[in-house]
Amino acid sequence: MTQHLADRTEPNGPGTESRPDWWRDAVIYQVYPRSFADGDGDGMGDLSGIRSRLPYLAELGVDAVWLSPFYASPQADAGYDVADYRAIDPMFGDLHDADALIRDAHDLGLRIIVDLVPNHSSDRHEWFQRALRQGPGSPLRDRYHFRPGKGTDGELPPNDWESIFGGPAWTRTTNPDGTPGEWYLHLFAPEQPDLNWDNQAVHDEFRSVLRFWLDMGVDGFRIDVAHGLIKEAGLPDMGQSGQLRMLGTDVLPFFDQDGVHEIYRSWRKILDEYPQQRIAVAEAWTPTAERTALYVRPDELHQAFNFHYLNTPWGADELRQVIDSSLDSMRPVGAPTTWVLSNHDVVRHRTRLGGSLARARAATLLMLALPGSAYLYQGEELGLPEVVDLPDEVRQDPAFFRRAGHHDDADDGQDGLRDGCRVPIPWTAQGSSFGFGDGGSWLPQPPAWGKLSVAAQAGDPAATLELYRAALAIRRTQPALGAGDGVEWLATPPGVLAFRRRSACGGTSLGAPPGRSPGEESGGNTAVVCAVNTTDKPVELPDVLTPGGSRLLASGPWPAGTVLPADTTVWWGE
Ligand code: NOJ
Repeated sequence: MTQHLADRTEPNGPGTESRPDWWRDAVIYQVYPRSFADGDGDGMGDLSGIRSRLPYLAELGVDAVWLSPFYASPQADAGYDVADYRAIDPMFGDLHDADALIRDAHDLGLRIIVDLVPNHSSDRHEWFQRALRQGPGSPLRDRYHFRPGKGTDGELPPNDWESIFGGPAWTRTTNPDGTPGEWYLHLFAPEQPDLNWDNQAVHDEFRSVLRFWLDMGVDGFRIDVAHGLIKEAGLPDMGQSGQLRMLGTDVLPFFDQDGVHEIYRSWRKILDEYPQQRIAVAEAWTPTAERTALYVRPDELHQAFNFHYLNTPWGADELRQVIDSSLDSMRPVGAPTTWVLSNHDVVRHRTRLGGSLARARAATLLMLALPGSAYLYQGEELGLPEVVDLPDEVRQDPAFFRRAGHHDDADDGQDGLRDGCRVPIPWTAQGSSFGFGDGGSWLPQPPAWGKLSVAAQAGDPAATLELYRAALAIRRTQPALGAGDGVEWLATPPGVLAFRRRSACGGTSLGAPPGRSPGEESGGNTAVVCAVNTTDKPVELPDVLTPGGSRLLASGPWPAGTVLPADTTVWWGE
Protein backbone atom coordinates (compact mmCIF):
# COMPACT_ATOMS: atom_id res chain seq x y z
CA MET A 1 0.00 0.00 0.00
CA THR A 2 2.64 2.52 0.99
CA GLN A 3 4.73 1.74 -2.02
CA HIS A 4 1.77 2.22 -4.30
CA LEU A 5 1.10 5.59 -2.73
CA ALA A 6 4.72 6.67 -2.55
CA ASP A 7 4.81 8.53 -5.85
CA ARG A 8 3.98 11.91 -4.34
CA THR A 9 3.24 15.20 -5.97
CA GLU A 10 4.38 18.40 -4.34
CA PRO A 11 1.99 21.29 -3.79
CA ASN A 12 1.62 22.65 -7.29
CA GLY A 13 -1.42 24.84 -7.40
CA PRO A 14 -1.34 28.58 -7.93
CA GLY A 15 0.77 30.31 -5.33
CA THR A 16 2.43 27.27 -3.82
CA GLU A 17 5.24 26.56 -6.22
CA SER A 18 7.62 29.41 -5.48
CA ARG A 19 6.91 30.44 -1.93
CA PRO A 20 10.00 29.88 0.15
CA ASP A 21 9.11 30.33 3.81
CA TRP A 22 5.45 30.00 2.82
CA TRP A 23 4.55 29.25 6.42
CA ARG A 24 5.77 32.53 7.86
CA ASP A 25 2.62 34.41 6.96
CA ALA A 26 0.35 31.49 6.02
CA VAL A 27 -3.32 31.43 6.95
CA ILE A 28 -4.03 27.87 8.01
CA TYR A 29 -7.56 26.51 8.32
CA GLN A 30 -8.30 23.79 10.84
CA VAL A 31 -10.61 21.05 9.67
CA TYR A 32 -12.08 18.88 12.40
CA PRO A 33 -12.77 15.79 10.26
CA ARG A 34 -15.80 14.46 12.13
CA SER A 35 -17.62 17.77 11.79
CA PHE A 36 -16.66 19.25 8.44
CA ALA A 37 -18.46 17.25 5.73
CA ASP A 38 -19.89 13.75 5.63
CA GLY A 39 -19.28 12.03 2.29
CA ASP A 40 -20.86 8.64 3.04
CA GLY A 41 -23.96 9.74 4.93
CA ASP A 42 -23.24 8.00 8.24
CA GLY A 43 -23.61 11.19 10.27
CA MET A 44 -19.87 11.50 10.81
CA GLY A 45 -17.58 13.65 8.69
CA ASP A 46 -14.90 11.90 6.65
CA LEU A 47 -12.04 12.34 4.21
CA SER A 48 -14.20 12.10 1.09
CA GLY A 49 -16.43 14.82 2.53
CA ILE A 50 -13.42 17.04 3.16
CA ARG A 51 -12.13 16.32 -0.32
CA SER A 52 -15.40 17.41 -1.87
CA ARG A 53 -15.17 20.74 -0.05
CA LEU A 54 -11.56 21.59 -0.90
CA PRO A 55 -12.63 24.02 -3.63
CA TYR A 56 -14.53 25.95 -0.95
CA LEU A 57 -11.34 26.28 1.07
CA ALA A 58 -9.32 27.33 -1.94
CA GLU A 59 -11.94 29.96 -2.73
CA LEU A 60 -11.95 31.12 0.86
CA GLY A 61 -8.31 32.00 0.30
CA VAL A 62 -6.44 30.01 2.93
CA ASP A 63 -2.94 28.72 2.29
CA ALA A 64 -3.07 25.41 4.11
CA VAL A 65 -5.43 23.02 5.85
CA TRP A 66 -4.66 21.37 9.17
CA LEU A 67 -6.60 18.15 9.72
CA SER A 68 -7.23 16.98 13.26
CA PRO A 69 -6.55 13.23 13.67
CA PHE A 70 -8.11 10.77 11.25
CA TYR A 71 -6.03 7.75 12.31
CA ALA A 72 -7.29 4.36 13.41
CA SER A 73 -8.67 5.03 16.86
CA PRO A 74 -11.32 3.81 19.30
CA GLN A 75 -12.33 7.52 19.51
CA ALA A 76 -12.11 7.77 23.28
CA ASP A 77 -10.91 11.33 22.70
CA ALA A 78 -12.23 12.03 19.21
CA GLY A 79 -9.19 10.50 17.54
CA TYR A 80 -6.51 11.93 19.85
CA ASP A 81 -6.17 8.34 21.05
CA VAL A 82 -4.33 6.71 18.17
CA ALA A 83 -4.26 2.92 17.82
CA ASP A 84 -2.32 2.89 14.55
CA TYR A 85 -0.38 5.94 13.39
CA ARG A 86 -0.11 4.67 9.82
CA ALA A 87 -3.76 3.77 9.20
CA ILE A 88 -6.94 5.78 8.63
CA ASP A 89 -9.90 5.00 10.83
CA PRO A 90 -12.58 3.30 8.69
CA MET A 91 -15.07 5.93 9.85
CA PHE A 92 -12.98 8.50 7.94
CA GLY A 93 -11.95 6.39 4.93
CA ASP A 94 -8.67 4.72 4.03
CA LEU A 95 -5.17 5.55 2.85
CA HIS A 96 -6.36 5.92 -0.73
CA ASP A 97 -8.78 8.62 0.42
CA ALA A 98 -5.93 10.36 2.24
CA ASP A 99 -3.77 10.12 -0.87
CA ALA A 100 -6.53 11.57 -3.06
CA LEU A 101 -7.16 14.34 -0.55
CA ILE A 102 -3.52 15.36 -0.48
CA ARG A 103 -3.28 15.31 -4.26
CA ASP A 104 -6.46 17.33 -4.77
CA ALA A 105 -5.40 19.87 -2.16
CA HIS A 106 -2.07 20.33 -3.88
CA ASP A 107 -3.76 20.74 -7.23
CA LEU A 108 -5.78 23.57 -5.71
CA GLY A 109 -2.71 25.22 -4.22
CA LEU A 110 -3.54 24.15 -0.67
CA ARG A 111 -1.01 22.58 1.63
CA ILE A 112 -1.96 19.81 4.05
CA ILE A 113 -0.87 19.63 7.68
CA VAL A 114 -1.72 16.53 9.68
CA ASP A 115 -1.94 16.04 13.42
CA LEU A 116 0.74 13.99 15.14
CA VAL A 117 -0.04 12.68 18.62
CA PRO A 118 3.25 11.68 20.26
CA ASN A 119 2.54 12.24 23.96
CA HIS A 120 0.27 9.23 24.28
CA SER A 121 -1.18 6.42 22.22
CA SER A 122 -4.51 4.69 22.54
CA ASP A 123 -4.73 1.95 25.14
CA ARG A 124 -5.76 -0.22 22.17
CA HIS A 125 -2.39 0.41 20.48
CA GLU A 126 -0.54 -2.84 19.92
CA TRP A 127 2.38 -1.64 22.05
CA PHE A 128 0.21 -1.00 25.07
CA GLN A 129 -1.75 -4.21 24.69
CA ARG A 130 1.45 -6.24 24.47
CA ALA A 131 2.93 -4.43 27.47
CA LEU A 132 -0.20 -5.28 29.47
CA ARG A 133 -0.09 -8.92 28.41
CA GLN A 134 3.58 -9.35 29.22
CA GLY A 135 3.17 -8.10 32.77
CA PRO A 136 5.45 -6.24 35.21
CA GLY A 137 9.15 -6.35 34.45
CA SER A 138 8.68 -6.69 30.69
CA PRO A 139 10.90 -4.31 28.69
CA LEU A 140 7.81 -3.53 26.61
CA ARG A 141 6.36 -1.75 29.64
CA ASP A 142 9.23 0.74 29.45
CA ARG A 143 7.61 2.30 26.38
CA TYR A 144 4.98 3.71 28.74
CA HIS A 145 5.10 4.89 32.36
CA PHE A 146 4.18 1.83 34.41
CA ARG A 147 4.88 2.06 38.15
CA PRO A 148 3.97 0.07 41.26
CA GLY A 149 1.41 1.80 43.46
CA LYS A 150 2.02 3.28 46.89
CA GLY A 151 0.35 2.09 50.09
CA THR A 152 0.55 -1.29 51.73
CA ASP A 153 -0.82 -3.18 48.74
CA GLY A 154 0.06 -0.77 45.98
CA GLU A 155 -3.50 0.52 46.16
CA LEU A 156 -2.52 4.20 45.86
CA PRO A 157 -1.36 5.92 42.67
CA PRO A 158 2.42 6.36 42.29
CA ASN A 159 2.19 10.15 42.56
CA ASP A 160 -0.35 12.95 42.94
CA TRP A 161 -0.57 14.09 39.31
CA GLU A 162 -4.04 14.88 38.02
CA SER A 163 -5.42 14.18 34.56
CA ILE A 164 -6.16 17.18 32.37
CA PHE A 165 -9.59 15.66 31.92
CA GLY A 166 -10.11 15.36 35.69
CA GLY A 167 -9.39 12.70 38.28
CA PRO A 168 -6.03 11.04 38.92
CA ALA A 169 -3.51 10.75 36.07
CA TRP A 170 -2.98 7.07 36.94
CA THR A 171 -5.01 3.93 36.36
CA ARG A 172 -4.29 0.60 37.94
CA THR A 173 -3.84 -2.44 35.72
CA THR A 174 -4.81 -6.02 36.30
CA ASN A 175 -2.04 -8.59 35.97
CA PRO A 176 -2.36 -11.38 33.41
CA ASP A 177 -3.17 -13.71 36.37
CA GLY A 178 -6.08 -11.48 37.49
CA THR A 179 -4.40 -9.88 40.51
CA PRO A 180 -4.22 -6.08 40.89
CA GLY A 181 -1.15 -4.85 39.08
CA GLU A 182 0.94 -1.78 38.33
CA TRP A 183 -0.40 1.66 37.53
CA TYR A 184 0.17 3.55 34.29
CA LEU A 185 0.33 7.28 33.66
CA HIS A 186 -2.20 9.08 31.47
CA LEU A 187 -2.19 12.86 31.52
CA PHE A 188 -5.45 12.73 29.58
CA ALA A 189 -8.07 9.94 29.56
CA PRO A 190 -7.26 6.43 30.87
CA GLU A 191 -7.58 5.31 27.25
CA GLN A 192 -4.57 7.54 26.42
CA PRO A 193 -1.48 6.09 28.18
CA ASP A 194 1.52 8.43 28.06
CA LEU A 195 4.47 7.19 26.06
CA ASN A 196 7.89 7.17 27.72
CA TRP A 197 10.19 9.38 25.69
CA ASP A 198 13.22 8.11 27.61
CA ASN A 199 12.82 4.90 25.63
CA GLN A 200 14.68 4.71 22.33
CA ALA A 201 11.99 2.63 20.61
CA VAL A 202 9.55 5.52 21.04
CA HIS A 203 11.96 7.90 19.29
CA ASP A 204 12.55 5.45 16.45
CA GLU A 205 8.86 4.83 15.98
CA PHE A 206 7.90 8.49 15.70
CA ARG A 207 10.74 9.28 13.34
CA SER A 208 9.41 6.50 11.16
CA VAL A 209 5.84 7.81 11.44
CA LEU A 210 7.01 11.29 10.42
CA ARG A 211 8.63 9.84 7.33
CA PHE A 212 5.56 7.78 6.51
CA TRP A 213 3.38 10.88 6.26
CA LEU A 214 6.07 13.01 4.64
CA ASP A 215 6.39 10.31 2.00
CA MET A 216 2.61 10.49 1.59
CA GLY A 217 3.15 14.11 0.61
CA VAL A 218 1.94 16.07 3.63
CA ASP A 219 3.35 19.54 4.10
CA GLY A 220 3.59 19.54 7.83
CA PHE A 221 2.51 18.38 11.26
CA ARG A 222 0.64 19.88 14.14
CA ILE A 223 2.30 18.37 17.20
CA ASP A 224 -0.28 17.49 19.84
CA VAL A 225 0.77 18.22 23.45
CA ALA A 226 4.23 19.18 22.20
CA HIS A 227 5.05 20.42 25.69
CA GLY A 228 4.27 17.10 27.38
CA LEU A 229 6.58 14.43 26.04
CA ILE A 230 9.27 14.65 28.71
CA LYS A 231 8.38 14.27 32.37
CA GLU A 232 10.56 15.44 35.25
CA ALA A 233 12.92 12.66 36.32
CA GLY A 234 11.52 10.57 39.15
CA LEU A 235 7.96 11.77 38.46
CA PRO A 236 7.89 13.89 41.66
CA ASP A 237 4.67 14.77 43.47
CA MET A 238 3.17 18.20 42.76
CA GLY A 239 2.21 18.58 46.40
CA GLN A 240 -1.11 20.28 45.62
CA SER A 241 -4.39 19.60 43.92
CA GLY A 242 -6.24 21.77 41.39
CA GLN A 243 -3.41 21.30 38.90
CA LEU A 244 -5.76 21.94 36.01
CA ARG A 245 -5.92 25.58 36.94
CA MET A 246 -2.12 25.85 36.75
CA LEU A 247 -1.88 24.70 33.14
CA GLY A 248 -0.27 27.28 30.93
CA THR A 249 0.65 29.54 33.83
CA ASP A 250 2.93 27.50 36.11
CA VAL A 251 5.94 25.24 35.72
CA LEU A 252 4.70 21.65 36.09
CA PRO A 253 6.75 18.45 36.33
CA PHE A 254 4.87 16.96 33.40
CA PHE A 255 4.80 19.93 31.03
CA ASP A 256 7.31 22.15 29.25
CA GLN A 257 10.37 20.28 30.48
CA ASP A 258 13.58 21.32 28.71
CA GLY A 259 14.17 17.78 27.43
CA VAL A 260 11.46 18.14 24.79
CA HIS A 261 13.66 20.39 22.68
CA GLU A 262 16.14 17.67 21.81
CA ILE A 263 13.27 15.70 20.26
CA TYR A 264 12.23 18.63 18.09
CA ARG A 265 15.79 19.24 16.96
CA SER A 266 15.92 15.67 15.68
CA TRP A 267 12.53 16.04 13.95
CA ARG A 268 13.58 19.29 12.28
CA LYS A 269 16.43 17.42 10.60
CA ILE A 270 13.93 14.98 9.12
CA LEU A 271 11.61 17.76 7.92
CA ASP A 272 14.53 19.54 6.30
CA GLU A 273 15.44 16.45 4.30
CA TYR A 274 12.25 16.91 2.28
CA PRO A 275 11.72 19.47 -0.49
CA GLN A 276 9.23 22.35 -0.37
CA GLN A 277 9.64 23.25 3.30
CA ARG A 278 7.69 20.77 5.38
CA ILE A 279 6.82 22.34 8.70
CA ALA A 280 5.72 21.55 12.23
CA VAL A 281 3.61 23.62 14.58
CA ALA A 282 3.68 22.99 18.31
CA GLU A 283 0.62 22.80 20.48
CA ALA A 284 2.61 23.97 23.47
CA TRP A 285 0.92 25.41 26.53
CA THR A 286 3.71 27.16 28.42
CA PRO A 287 3.78 29.67 31.26
CA THR A 288 5.23 32.53 29.19
CA ALA A 289 5.66 33.73 25.62
CA GLU A 290 9.42 33.37 26.11
CA ARG A 291 9.02 29.67 26.93
CA THR A 292 6.86 29.26 23.82
CA ALA A 293 9.62 30.82 21.72
CA LEU A 294 12.01 28.04 22.71
CA TYR A 295 9.98 25.59 20.59
CA VAL A 296 10.60 27.62 17.44
CA ARG A 297 14.32 28.24 17.64
CA PRO A 298 15.86 27.95 14.16
CA ASP A 299 16.73 24.27 14.56
CA GLU A 300 13.42 23.22 16.14
CA LEU A 301 9.80 23.55 15.03
CA HIS A 302 8.55 26.29 12.71
CA GLN A 303 5.56 27.60 14.61
CA ALA A 304 3.86 27.36 18.00
CA PHE A 305 0.27 28.32 18.64
CA ASN A 306 0.02 31.60 20.49
CA PHE A 307 -2.38 30.58 23.23
CA HIS A 308 -1.50 33.68 25.23
CA TYR A 309 -3.24 35.65 22.48
CA LEU A 310 -6.21 33.30 22.40
CA ASN A 311 -6.65 33.72 26.15
CA THR A 312 -6.61 37.51 26.05
CA PRO A 313 -9.90 39.29 26.79
CA TRP A 314 -11.36 41.88 24.42
CA GLY A 315 -9.70 45.07 25.61
CA ALA A 316 -7.33 47.49 23.91
CA ASP A 317 -4.68 47.50 26.65
CA GLU A 318 -4.66 43.75 27.10
CA LEU A 319 -4.50 43.15 23.37
CA ARG A 320 -1.72 45.63 22.82
CA GLN A 321 0.27 44.09 25.64
CA VAL A 322 -0.07 40.52 24.36
CA ILE A 323 0.71 41.56 20.79
CA ASP A 324 3.89 43.30 21.94
CA SER A 325 4.99 40.48 24.20
CA SER A 326 4.27 37.89 21.50
CA LEU A 327 6.27 39.76 18.88
CA ASP A 328 9.08 40.61 21.30
CA SER A 329 9.47 37.02 22.40
CA MET A 330 9.62 35.63 18.86
CA ARG A 331 11.96 38.23 17.40
CA PRO A 332 15.16 36.85 19.00
CA VAL A 333 14.52 33.37 17.57
CA GLY A 334 13.44 34.69 14.16
CA ALA A 335 10.16 32.76 14.12
CA PRO A 336 6.79 34.18 13.10
CA THR A 337 4.12 34.61 15.70
CA THR A 338 1.15 32.33 15.14
CA TRP A 339 -2.15 33.97 16.00
CA VAL A 340 -5.24 31.95 16.83
CA LEU A 341 -8.69 32.73 18.23
CA SER A 342 -10.60 29.46 17.99
CA ASN A 343 -9.97 25.74 17.79
CA HIS A 344 -11.63 22.44 18.67
CA ASP A 345 -10.65 22.68 22.36
CA VAL A 346 -11.91 26.13 23.29
CA VAL A 347 -15.18 28.03 23.28
CA ARG A 348 -15.66 29.58 19.83
CA HIS A 349 -14.36 33.13 19.94
CA ARG A 350 -17.69 34.69 19.03
CA THR A 351 -19.13 33.34 22.29
CA ARG A 352 -15.96 33.61 24.34
CA LEU A 353 -15.56 37.31 23.62
CA GLY A 354 -19.07 38.10 24.75
CA GLY A 355 -21.44 36.72 22.16
CA SER A 356 -21.52 39.58 19.71
CA LEU A 357 -20.93 38.77 16.06
CA ALA A 358 -19.68 42.32 15.51
CA ARG A 359 -16.96 41.79 18.08
CA ALA A 360 -15.99 38.39 16.71
CA ARG A 361 -15.58 39.91 13.25
CA ALA A 362 -13.55 42.79 14.67
CA ALA A 363 -11.29 40.32 16.49
CA THR A 364 -10.70 38.42 13.27
CA LEU A 365 -9.75 41.49 11.26
CA LEU A 366 -7.34 42.49 13.99
CA MET A 367 -5.74 39.04 13.99
CA LEU A 368 -5.40 39.01 10.21
CA ALA A 369 -3.59 42.35 10.23
CA LEU A 370 -0.86 41.14 12.57
CA PRO A 371 2.53 40.01 11.30
CA GLY A 372 2.95 36.25 11.15
CA SER A 373 0.78 33.25 10.51
CA ALA A 374 -2.88 32.90 11.51
CA TYR A 375 -4.99 29.84 12.26
CA LEU A 376 -8.71 29.70 11.56
CA TYR A 377 -11.07 27.07 12.91
CA GLN A 378 -13.77 25.66 10.66
CA GLY A 379 -17.02 27.56 10.94
CA GLU A 380 -15.58 30.75 12.36
CA GLU A 381 -15.82 32.17 8.84
CA LEU A 382 -19.59 31.68 9.19
CA GLY A 383 -19.65 33.47 12.53
CA LEU A 384 -20.78 30.31 14.29
CA PRO A 385 -21.33 30.66 18.02
CA GLU A 386 -20.56 27.97 20.56
CA VAL A 387 -23.50 25.59 21.00
CA VAL A 388 -24.10 26.00 24.71
CA ASP A 389 -27.20 23.88 25.19
CA LEU A 390 -26.21 20.43 23.98
CA PRO A 391 -28.08 17.80 25.99
CA ASP A 392 -25.80 15.70 28.18
CA GLU A 393 -26.81 12.51 26.41
CA VAL A 394 -25.27 13.58 23.09
CA ARG A 395 -21.97 14.75 24.51
CA GLN A 396 -18.86 12.75 23.66
CA ASP A 397 -16.00 14.79 25.09
CA PRO A 398 -14.22 12.68 27.73
CA ALA A 399 -13.53 15.87 29.68
CA PHE A 400 -17.26 16.31 30.17
CA PHE A 401 -17.60 12.94 31.89
CA ARG A 402 -14.41 13.08 33.92
CA ARG A 403 -14.87 16.63 35.10
CA ALA A 404 -18.55 16.39 35.94
CA GLY A 405 -19.27 18.85 38.71
CA HIS A 406 -15.77 20.34 38.60
CA HIS A 407 -15.86 22.57 35.56
CA ASP A 408 -17.46 25.80 34.66
CA ASP A 409 -15.92 28.80 36.26
CA ALA A 410 -16.09 30.83 33.05
CA ASP A 411 -18.76 33.41 32.25
CA ASP A 412 -19.86 31.54 29.16
CA GLY A 413 -20.69 28.42 31.17
CA GLN A 414 -18.68 26.26 28.79
CA ASP A 415 -15.25 26.15 30.38
CA GLY A 416 -13.71 22.78 29.68
CA LEU A 417 -16.67 21.51 27.66
CA ARG A 418 -15.57 20.93 24.10
CA ASP A 419 -18.50 19.44 22.21
CA GLY A 420 -20.10 22.85 21.74
CA CYS A 421 -17.39 23.99 19.32
CA ARG A 422 -17.43 20.66 17.46
CA VAL A 423 -20.98 20.69 16.12
CA PRO A 424 -20.98 19.90 12.36
CA ILE A 425 -20.99 22.99 10.21
CA PRO A 426 -23.93 24.03 8.02
CA TRP A 427 -23.41 24.13 4.27
CA THR A 428 -26.96 24.65 3.05
CA ALA A 429 -29.87 26.68 4.41
CA GLN A 430 -32.16 23.65 4.48
CA GLY A 431 -31.98 19.91 4.11
CA SER A 432 -30.60 17.05 6.09
CA SER A 433 -28.09 18.37 8.60
CA PHE A 434 -27.83 21.57 6.57
CA GLY A 435 -25.79 19.90 3.87
CA PHE A 436 -23.27 18.34 6.25
CA GLY A 437 -24.33 14.92 4.92
CA ASP A 438 -27.33 12.78 4.09
CA GLY A 439 -27.37 10.87 7.35
CA GLY A 440 -27.90 13.48 10.03
CA SER A 441 -25.08 14.75 12.19
CA TRP A 442 -23.32 13.20 15.17
CA LEU A 443 -24.07 16.26 17.28
CA PRO A 444 -27.36 18.12 16.77
CA GLN A 445 -27.13 21.43 14.94
CA PRO A 446 -29.19 24.36 16.21
CA PRO A 447 -32.20 24.95 13.91
CA ALA A 448 -31.08 28.55 13.38
CA TRP A 449 -27.84 27.43 11.73
CA GLY A 450 -29.46 27.24 8.30
CA LYS A 451 -29.27 31.03 8.21
CA LEU A 452 -25.55 30.83 8.99
CA SER A 453 -24.83 28.25 6.31
CA VAL A 454 -22.33 28.72 3.53
CA ALA A 455 -25.16 28.82 0.98
CA ALA A 456 -27.03 31.48 2.94
CA GLN A 457 -23.96 33.69 3.25
CA ALA A 458 -22.18 33.29 -0.07
CA GLY A 459 -22.49 36.39 -2.20
CA ASP A 460 -23.97 38.57 0.54
CA PRO A 461 -21.51 41.43 1.02
CA ALA A 462 -22.64 41.88 4.64
CA ALA A 463 -22.07 38.21 5.51
CA THR A 464 -19.22 37.02 7.71
CA LEU A 465 -18.16 34.51 5.07
CA GLU A 466 -17.67 37.34 2.60
CA LEU A 467 -15.76 39.34 5.19
CA TYR A 468 -13.30 36.46 5.60
CA ARG A 469 -13.01 36.03 1.84
CA ALA A 470 -12.34 39.73 1.37
CA ALA A 471 -9.83 39.86 4.22
CA LEU A 472 -7.91 36.86 2.94
CA ALA A 473 -7.90 38.20 -0.60
CA ILE A 474 -6.50 41.52 0.58
CA ARG A 475 -3.98 39.78 2.80
CA ARG A 476 -2.74 37.73 -0.14
CA THR A 477 -2.05 40.73 -2.27
CA GLN A 478 -1.24 43.43 0.24
CA PRO A 479 2.46 43.29 1.08
CA ALA A 480 1.98 45.31 4.24
CA LEU A 481 -0.05 42.55 5.91
CA GLY A 482 1.23 39.27 7.28
CA ALA A 483 4.93 39.80 6.68
CA GLY A 484 7.51 41.24 9.03
CA ASP A 485 7.84 40.99 12.76
CA GLY A 486 6.63 44.28 14.16
CA VAL A 487 3.86 46.84 14.24
CA GLU A 488 4.07 50.64 14.53
CA TRP A 489 1.63 51.71 17.23
CA LEU A 490 -0.38 54.90 16.73
CA ALA A 491 -1.71 57.16 19.47
CA THR A 492 -5.36 56.42 20.19
CA PRO A 493 -8.03 57.23 22.79
CA PRO A 494 -8.68 54.69 25.58
CA GLY A 495 -10.28 51.47 24.42
CA VAL A 496 -8.93 51.84 20.90
CA LEU A 497 -5.81 50.41 19.36
CA ALA A 498 -4.27 51.24 16.04
CA PHE A 499 -1.08 50.31 14.28
CA ARG A 500 0.55 50.78 10.93
CA ARG A 501 2.04 47.94 8.91
CA ARG A 502 4.41 48.91 6.13
CA SER A 503 5.62 47.01 3.12
CA ALA A 504 9.22 47.19 1.94
CA CYS A 505 8.20 49.99 -0.46
CA GLY A 506 7.24 52.05 2.55
CA GLY A 507 10.88 52.27 3.52
CA THR A 508 10.90 50.25 6.74
CA SER A 509 12.43 46.91 7.52
CA LEU A 510 9.13 45.14 6.94
CA GLY A 511 9.42 43.09 3.79
CA ALA A 512 6.93 41.67 1.34
CA PRO A 513 6.02 38.08 2.04
CA PRO A 514 8.73 35.87 0.61
CA GLY A 515 7.79 34.90 -2.91
CA ARG A 516 5.64 37.98 -3.42
CA SER A 517 7.03 41.19 -4.73
CA PRO A 518 6.37 44.40 -2.87
CA GLY A 519 3.29 46.08 -4.25
CA GLU A 520 2.22 42.98 -6.18
CA GLU A 521 -1.50 43.30 -6.99
CA SER A 522 -1.77 45.44 -3.92
CA GLY A 523 -3.69 48.29 -5.39
CA GLY A 524 -0.64 50.41 -4.64
CA ASN A 525 -0.86 50.67 -0.84
CA THR A 526 2.51 50.47 0.81
CA ALA A 527 1.15 50.79 4.31
CA VAL A 528 -1.99 49.64 6.03
CA VAL A 529 -3.39 51.07 9.23
CA CYS A 530 -5.45 48.71 11.34
CA ALA A 531 -7.69 50.45 13.88
CA VAL A 532 -9.78 48.61 16.45
CA ASN A 533 -12.50 50.06 18.65
CA THR A 534 -12.99 47.61 21.52
CA THR A 535 -15.51 49.85 23.29
CA ASP A 536 -19.29 49.89 22.96
CA LYS A 537 -19.35 53.52 21.72
CA PRO A 538 -18.24 55.09 18.44
CA VAL A 539 -14.96 57.05 18.54
CA GLU A 540 -13.51 59.81 16.37
CA LEU A 541 -10.08 58.95 14.94
CA PRO A 542 -8.99 61.90 12.77
CA ASP A 543 -5.30 61.33 13.55
CA VAL A 544 -5.39 57.66 12.63
CA LEU A 545 -7.63 57.53 9.56
CA THR A 546 -5.79 60.33 7.85
CA PRO A 547 -7.00 62.09 4.71
CA GLY A 548 -5.50 60.75 1.52
CA GLY A 549 -5.87 57.15 2.64
CA SER A 550 -8.46 54.74 1.38
CA ARG A 551 -10.86 52.28 2.94
CA LEU A 552 -9.72 48.71 2.46
CA LEU A 553 -12.07 46.75 4.67
CA ALA A 554 -14.20 47.07 7.79
CA SER A 555 -15.54 44.38 10.08
CA GLY A 556 -18.95 46.10 10.19
CA PRO A 557 -20.86 49.10 8.91
CA TRP A 558 -18.49 52.06 8.63
CA PRO A 559 -20.12 55.43 8.03
CA ALA A 560 -18.23 58.02 6.00
CA GLY A 561 -15.73 60.14 7.88
CA THR A 562 -13.27 59.31 10.60
CA VAL A 563 -15.64 57.76 13.11
CA LEU A 564 -14.96 54.17 14.10
CA PRO A 565 -18.13 52.40 15.31
CA ALA A 566 -18.25 50.25 18.47
CA ASP A 567 -16.65 46.78 18.31
CA THR A 568 -15.26 47.43 14.85
CA THR A 569 -11.91 46.95 13.15
CA VAL A 570 -10.98 48.75 9.94
CA TRP A 571 -8.12 48.43 7.49
CA TRP A 572 -7.07 51.75 6.00
CA GLY A 573 -4.70 51.83 3.05
CA GLU A 574 -2.07 54.57 2.93
C1 NOJ B 1 -4.83 18.52 22.57
C2 NOJ B 1 -5.93 18.28 21.58
O1 NOJ B 1 -6.14 19.47 20.87
C3 NOJ B 1 -7.13 17.84 22.37
O2 NOJ B 1 -8.29 17.81 21.60
C4 NOJ B 1 -6.82 16.51 22.99
O3 NOJ B 1 -7.88 16.13 23.82
C5 NOJ B 1 -5.55 16.56 23.82
N1 NOJ B 1 -4.50 17.28 23.18
C6 NOJ B 1 -5.05 15.17 24.10
O4 NOJ B 1 -4.54 14.61 22.93
